[in-house]
Amino acid sequence: MLLHRIEEVKSVIKDWKKEGFTVGLVPTMGALHAGHMSLIKKAKETCDKIVVSDFVNPIQFGPSEDFDKYPRTLDADVELCNKDGVDIVFAPSANEMYGEGNKLSNDVLTYVCPPFFYVNTLCGKSRTGHFDGVCTVVLKLFNIVQPDYAFFGQKDAQQVIIIKKMVSDLNVPVQIIQCPIVREESGLALSSRNKYLSEEGKKDALVLSKILNNIKSCYQKGITDVSALKETAYKFLTDKHDMEYLEIVDKNTLEDKSEADNNSIALIACRVDGVRLIDNIYLGE
Ligand code: PAJ
Repeated sequence: MLLHRIEEVKSVIKDWKKEGFTVGLVPTMGALHAGHMSLIKKAKETCDKIVVSDFVNPIQFGPSEDFDKYPRTLDADVELCNKDGVDIVFAPSANEMYGEGNKLSNDVLTYVCPPFFYVNTLCGKSRTGHFDGVCTVVLKLFNIVQPDYAFFGQKDAQQVIIIKKMVSDLNVPVQIIQCPIVREESGLALSSRNKYLSEEGKKDALVLSKILNNIKSCYQKGITDVSALKETAYKFLTDKHDMEYLEIVDKNTLEDKSEADNNSIALIACRVDGVRLIDNIYLGE
């Protein structure tokens, strides 16, 4: 069922809880693809009842980012969710989430601010305030849905680390389940933003997964020096690629390392065709 109002969702959840059902939440911004569907599948395997939130959250977009043009495909999303046995698609308006008039500034709205160390690195460097916006909406969704489990993708590795930190620091009674990255056969990680890519851009975008796979195979051959591993990326880059970052850090804490080990994750952000893409790979698996 498609619900737009917080109170409607709360009332259904209340009935489910009375029946003793376990509840799983899959937070999304819609434009659902097979990556999202893998989270829904995992949720179905884990919980009795599934809520998918479908909300393009204005407070996690910077002023020069793609909030206005972000793909919105609610009808198709609902159809996919119905087919896959989702119980509630929660698609609130911004007014419903943040109050009439959308007063979104932190002068008037309470924000969740994750620790500086976690947000002042990787994507956070170029996306000021992004993770405050993510944590704020995710905590609101947790409070509305009161899920036993919530499902997030490794695709957004920094996001899931920060959410786990928030849940631990604020004693939020939910278990976070992380799901692996779903890729096209070509290796390209699925993303709603792939819709912005031209055919040519899609080919150029393969460089992200190629760089990461190559780093992993160099690591497996015995190269552990992080600078040397990062150097291996340059041979893949052309003038079509505008690299934002390539880092190898601890997969649980995001701490910098000079030597990679089995707990390392390599993460990349790169603009291709003017589209900002991210990807990552665990070196130790
Ligand atoms: P969105 O980009 O729609 O992603 C929703 C969830 O799907 C995230 O947990 C993301 O990591 C996961 N996901 C996206 N692509 C994936 C892929 N290729 N394989 C596996 N999982 C994938 O992330 C957000 O929305 C928002 O920041 C949100 C958490 C909903 C807060 O607004």
